[in-house]
Amino acid sequence: MTSYLVVGSGLFGSVFAEQMANNGDKVTVLEKRDHIAGNIYTKEVSNIQVHKYGAHIFHTSNKKVWDYINQFADFNRFTNTPMAFSKSELYNLPFNMNTFYTLWGVKDPWKAKEKIAEQSKRYRSREPRNLEEQALSLVGRDIYEILIKEYTEKQWGRPCEKLPAFIIRRLPVRFTFDNNYFDDLYQGIPVGGYTQIIERMLDHPNIEIKLMTDFLANKAEWLSKYEKVIYTGMIDEFYDYCFGELEYRSLAFEHEHFAHSNYQGNAVINYIDKTIPYTRIIEHKHFEFGDQKNTIITKEYPQKWYKGEEPFYPINNEENQHIYHKYEKLSQENSQVLFGGRLGRYRYYDMHQVIDEALNLADKLIVHKVK
Ligand code: FDA
Repeated sequence: MTSYLVVGSGLFGSVFAEQMANNGDKVTVLEKRDHIAGNIYTKEVSNIQVHKYGAHIFHTSNKKVWDYINQFADFNRFTNTPMAFSKSELYNLPFNMNTFYTLWGVKDPWKAKEKIAEQSKRYRSREPRNLEEQALSLVGRDIYEILIKEYTEKQWGRPCEKLPAFIIRRLPVRFTFDNNYFDDLYQGIPVGGYTQIIERMLDHPNIEIKLMTDFLANKAEWLSKYEKVIYTGMIDEFYDYCFGELEYRSLAFEHEHFAHSNYQGNAVINYIDKTIPYTRIIEHKHFEFGDQKNTIITKEYPQKWYKGEEPFYPINNEENQHIYHKYEKLSQENSQVLFGGRLGRYRYYDMHQVIDEALNLADKLIVHKVK
């Protein structure tokens, strides 16, 4: 039996803990917040499941991951069909025939295709040097200026000409009237919210949970007590920023309650214009087809990240990748501590990717032990 310390009760830490506990190992889970579940935390407020850290829609084409997560909750038939509000007009996302009809009045797919080809042609002849050139070469000027530019600049806090092209390697464009945002085979929202999933994963006699406990406050002591540590916090913070600080983008959430039953008629609406400080409004009840008499919305404001605040998105440019690789190399010198999840690997991961990585890590350690 191995003794594991898992730092962080988010999805990565919890999947890993569940797997090892079922393998007969003892696991202690440390969490510095006052609740489990990390950023997928949902809380029931006035009978509505509120996504406290932003909209979380589960989607995957990985059957193994889908079967795994379905052990812990039933998923509803929610399909993400977000909309975008720009310059007093409402558009469907992802870019599809409904969007093109609103934009140009075209209803024939070939006409929409021609329009995009005509607008993007002149940007295709050379390698894009930044995000603006990349977007123009993929979708042309109208879509870029009406639906991408100002939203992206709010999101990242810099002009598109100063953002790297790789942020949008591809932009999904569909020539069908299909508003389903994801191409994945499986999609839905867990009935009753995400927190219960984590509660069920961690409900095991081999798992002990310690909330409001920051590993870094007693790092040496924790390291001396456990054979293996799985760390899902910030890798640069773990190493006391010895190679410098990695950059993140942060978010602020503003929740509002209304006594009436329907605020915007859709779960997610993006706000493109730079004159509006938030990037999205989510209306939580629509994730679960709620028929409550009241409603709750959340506005999402992108923010500059300062040390001590919640780091939401890694800024994956060359400089940060260079710094990250130094930390990664250092981590490979010590087999007691393994890094996982979005902060441990300094990578944007969707939930299904986090689950897959945690299952793979657990498999590797179990097989290694058997050998
Ligand atoms: P997570 O951050 O959840 O967990 C890490 C935990 O470690 C935290 O609870 C933290 O408090 C704790 N911790 C850190 N340092 C510690 C320390 N020193 N001591 C103790 N505890 C410590 N994905 C998707 O599939 N569909 C979607 O719709 C969305 N939507 C979405 C919206 C927004 C706004 C964001 C930012 C992200 C998404 N995601 C998503 C991604 C999803 O949130 C992500 O894949 C998982 O939450 C990552 O889980 P982790 O366990 O890696 O990190």
